[in-house]
Amino acid sequence: MAFQPLTRRSTVRDVYRTAVGRDAIDKLLLQSGVPRAAVTAAGPLRLSLIDRLTSRYTGPGFIDAIIKLVNSEADLPLEGLSPDPVPWWQEAVFYQIYPRSFADSDGDGIGDLRGIISHLDHLADLGVDCVWLSPIFDSPNQDMGYDVRDYRTVMEEMGTLEDLDELIRGCHERGMRIILDLVVNHTSDQHAWFQEALLDPDGPYGDYYFLERGDPKTPPNNWTSFFSGPAWRWFPEAGRWALHLFADGQMDLRWDNPDVRREVADIVGWWLERGIDGFRLDVINYISKPEGLPDGNAFVGALMGFVGVEHYFYGPRLGEFLRGLRRDGFTRDRPPASTPRRRLEDGTLGDPLPPDPVGVMVGETPGVGVQLGRLLSGGGRDQLDLIFNFDVLDTPGHTRWDDYVYDPEYLKRFYRTYLSELSPNDWIAVFLDNHDNPRMLSKLAGGAERDPAVRTAVGKLLATVQLTMRGTPFLYQGQELAAVNQGFEHIDQLRDVESVNRHAELLAEGVGPRALWRQILAGSRDHARVPMRWTREGGFGDAVAWLEGHDETPGFSAAEQVPDPASVYAWHRDLIALRRHHRALTLGDLTWVRPELKGYLAYERSLDGERFLIETNLSPKQRRRPKLTGRIVPVLGGPRESTMRPWEAIVSRID
Ligand code: NOJ
Ligand code: MG
Repeated sequence: MAFQPLTRRSTVRDVYRTAVGRDAIDKLLLQSGVPRAAVTAAGPLRLSLIDRLTSRYTGPGFIDAIIKLVNSEADLPLEGLSPDPVPWWQEAVFYQIYPRSFADSDGDGIGDLRGIISHLDHLADLGVDCVWLSPIFDSPNQDMGYDVRDYRTVMEEMGTLEDLDELIRGCHERGMRIILDLVVNHTSDQHAWFQEALLDPDGPYGDYYFLERGDPKTPPNNWTSFFSGPAWRWFPEAGRWALHLFADGQMDLRWDNPDVRREVADIVGWWLERGIDGFRLDVINYISKPEGLPDGNAFVGALMGFVGVEHYFYGPRLGEFLRGLRRDGFTRDRPPASTPRRRLEDGTLGDPLPPDPVGVMVGETPGVGVQLGRLLSGGGRDQLDLIFNFDVLDTPGHTRWDDYVYDPEYLKRFYRTYLSELSPNDWIAVFLDNHDNPRMLSKLAGGAERDPAVRTAVGKLLATVQLTMRGTPFLYQGQELAAVNQGFEHIDQLRDVESVNRHAELLAEGVGPRALWRQILAGSRDHARVPMRWTREGGFGDAVAWLEGHDETPGFSAAEQVPDPASVYAWHRDLIALRRHHRALTLGDLTWVRPELKGYLAYERSLDGERFLIETNLSPKQRRRPKLTGRIVPVLGGPRESTMRPWEAIVSRID
């Protein structure tokens, strides 16, 4: 059916029928905690009426903004082609390393490349297929490397380019791929481009950024930064405002400028030639800003916590920019320095593989829902390969800063809804932890993880869901050790610019100390950034680590977990091995089993006559196991008794 552009005479149902409109509405519902049934009730109402009814709350322009967003995708076909043959990343297990906190080789208290090299066997033994490194480029570290000063140099405290070459080879020799983190929505204010721009705002580099003239007291628009305060910084030396969606030293690049696009493509090509296998692309859905930089809607701003997002979270030229970057940057035109060795059936390694024609593109896409995600990563769309959908991280009506216990039932609802809205050709990334969020294990257990038995059970349950869901799992360092949130007690113990800024902002707003700390402790990104616990003592040996860990529970270090066959580590390793031997667990279809039973999360994965049953008890209480037909033989986590243990997870074969 031809696409009918929306007008103010269209109905809510018309909006919800479109991919983009559906995502926008779902996001607003999720954020406000209003159930989806509200859409059905309002379905027949015209947008003009909705506008009149709600403009008191939403302010002017809200409905028009939605209409514009929906119409912008009007003529693009969504049903892409299924990639053939199956791309490697659909069957892979990714593992994210936060290099600053992974392993320190030289005793300065900061994780580094040689530290990673010394632990590559840990990753290979776990069964990792592709390592992703958070930024290791030269940076003043206002945002721990997400503020890049030079894209072709390694940060001094992390090592040298030669170390990185060795790390790339070290991965490839073990049959693993490696990707880096491409942070190109913004650069550091210390990047040479920005420095040039300040010196000569009317020269060529002035056009690389959003440099606006104006009154030093009034920013060019009302957009706010993700890290508190306005998204604009005044530079008196240049007599200009500059846009920064993140920290005040992370200056947004102006992608409308073809020179910026060419520079980024060159950087990507340069790294691909060095042997890396692709990139995770930082906040890549934010790169296209609309002309004129219009003010953000106050209602959306209040709901989302940031003003202006609706204008750039899926900007007007995003698809065009991504297709261009794929073509000019990620498509190889020169052979790489090395490629990964082939992993053979019997677990040994064969010859190096031929280079992948296109480096993998994993998009970090905050705010993007299921349908926009499909537009960005669907087969044949030639944009990204995979995206992260962040809606899994918090239950409806909650944000990361709320001190609440995550309802595990939502985990089931999230994946059921997500998978049901995909076509067979779509493929998703499955993640629960990363360097920007507190640990999912703690969110789910809500404090009960202080009991080692609960911690182990929840850690295994989450691993089971993540490693058998239909999609590509992205593990974050420490998940395999059942890492949990940290008992920070004071702001002085935190290092993250977001936590520090937010703390100052709340303090200035007069929020009381207890309420304030509750928020910071609930949401701080530093929970996930403490040093990986290699030894029982934790930390980085004798050195004082740049950020200290506060988890001392015995049993949850690598030294204790790796040799223990009943550990959370062993569970991860065994599950990954099982995936590798049974494609039903990676590429197979997924069918939900008794989804109506509250607290029971179960599904079947099947391919070519092979069938697996995954069953979990999403609760701290015992429950009766539902009766299922067929001969069910546990392969991981048995015995399969008539009563399920608290937080039980079992993988079985159905013969
Ligand atoms: C997302 C990254 O994951 C986060 O750590 C960073 O602060 C922002 N993007 C800005 O680069
Ligand atoms: Mg070091």
